[in-house]
Amino acid sequence: MSNTIEAAWQAVTDLAADPAARNIRARFTADPARASRWTHRADGLVLDLSRTSLDEASLAALLALADATGVFARRDAMARGEAINTTEARAVMHMALRAPADAGLRAGAEDASATVHDTLGLMQSFVEALHAGKITGSTGERFTDVLNIGIGGSDLGPAMAARALSGPHDKLRAHFLGNVDAHAWEAIRPNLDPARTLVLIASKTFTTQETMANARLVRAWLADALGEAALPRHLAALSTNLQATADFGIAPARVFGFRDWVGGRFSMWSAIGLAIALAQGWDRFARLLEGAHAMDAHFLHAPPRENLPLLLALTETWHVNALKLPTRAVLPYDERLARLPAHLQQVEMESLGKGVTLSGQPVARATGPVVFGEAGTNAQHSFMQLIHQGPVPVPVDFILVANPDHGHADSHRKLLANGLAQAEALLVGRGADAVATEMRAAGIAEERIAAVLPHRVFTGNRPSVTILLPRLDPFSLGALVALYEHKVFCLGALWGINAFDQWGVELGKQLAGPILKALEGGAPPEHPATAAMLAEIEALRADPA
Ligand code: F6P
Repeated sequence: MSNTIEAAWQAVTDLAADPAARNIRARFTADPARASRWTHRADGLVLDLSRTSLDEASLAALLALADATGVFARRDAMARGEAINTTEARAVMHMALRAPADAGLRAGAEDASATVHDTLGLMQSFVEALHAGKITGSTGERFTDVLNIGIGGSDLGPAMAARALSGPHDKLRAHFLGNVDAHAWEAIRPNLDPARTLVLIASKTFTTQETMANARLVRAWLADALGEAALPRHLAALSTNLQATADFGIAPARVFGFRDWVGGRFSMWSAIGLAIALAQGWDRFARLLEGAHAMDAHFLHAPPRENLPLLLALTETWHVNALKLPTRAVLPYDERLARLPAHLQQVEMESLGKGVTLSGQPVARATGPVVFGEAGTNAQHSFMQLIHQGPVPVPVDFILVANPDHGHADSHRKLLANGLAQAEALLVGRGADAVATEMRAAGIAEERIAAVLPHRVFTGNRPSVTILLPRLDPFSLGALVALYEHKVFCLGALWGINAFDQWGVELGKQLAGPILKALEGGAPPEHPATAAMLAEIEALRADPA
């Protein structure tokens, strides 16, 4: 690592060594206009960073770090279609998926914009013909349900978006089958009529064990109900692997492709998003892409001090590397965003959970934090206790939506009040004096107050950021997800790691092969712990019926 980069890191960590660097309340005392000064806007989204301990000095040091690590130079290399995913020798072009046809974006020698818009055209024709009843199931009935079979990036993004945008306007019911645990299929199956179900097999590689196993299960279900000849009318594939889709028996006209310059976790904007378009209608899918594209333009052109993805990434760097906070919670105060934490877990942890730098050296400092989350207010009644009073602060992303899409104004006010109150409670806390006063006012005996008081104190000064959406519509959702994608890009550059490979998922996949053979009656597993547990499993297994 260059001396300039090391010096920039040192400047950031030196600032964090001052105990004042954790005192968020003092920041508000020092600057009465802090709330507005630390609030930024782009594409209708509002990002409030005021409830972190960042100040001018730490922000300046972090911006210097971004400069030293060449975050924007790497961003521009990504936009030019250079193979910045070096370990897989691939460009990283998910921005091309939502750019206009005339954007002229390239992935190496390929005209990425042309490729993308060819596929979008095919997807649009398919979606509109299906909604018009021109594409039907084998019995001539209209499709009412779409089942997306895929896992990871071929599941989480579309499932999250389909749920987030679902409403009375839905054109089709969307279902998502990811887990190879057939209980998942058994839970979905009773809700489906094969004659009215379109099945999408979504797999970038078309080799993923879980997806192919589920695809075979569901194909058999269709064939049993409708006959083998019906299959081409009920199946489509979303994949980069045209040979494997053909081998599976899917007609080329029913294969919607994308390229290897689209990472799985960044693929919901590609053919992988077909379930979203089928459920929502083409216009709403197009608006989703427009929202993401608007955030791309902001990321590419806004200056560093106003660049939302960069600011979010620098905030995370401050928390993870300077303040040594190894986790982060994502709390969307909108039930429709309940799957957003799961999607972001993949986008962030599969991208940033890396132990070596681009040059293969062990990283010198912590990388991706553990991300977890749950929709508010449910989260308040499960893990928020730890976030308020656990010894290690957990930075929180609160995601609020100003306008609901229901008519229950009172419920929405309560939802917002709770989200705002959580952020305020984390910041202001409650000291011993205030707790004692409250307990005395309630008539509690002094002896009892002394015993319980420490348990009721909140330290406060716990960081959070708030992202506010005007409404949970396709445009805002696109902008929100792209914001996080670009934050991840910036963090990869700041940490000098490859955010676009995922070698860490390979070993378990490989080891599952021989263990599966053992479960099928082959040689026992080599490792004694696995062999012993397998013996326990065998002892408890009833004979399959
Ligand atoms: O779990 C690893 C992974 O490769 C993810 O990156 C990807 O999103 C997922 O598996 C699914 O892969 P595919 O789309 O090739 O089936």
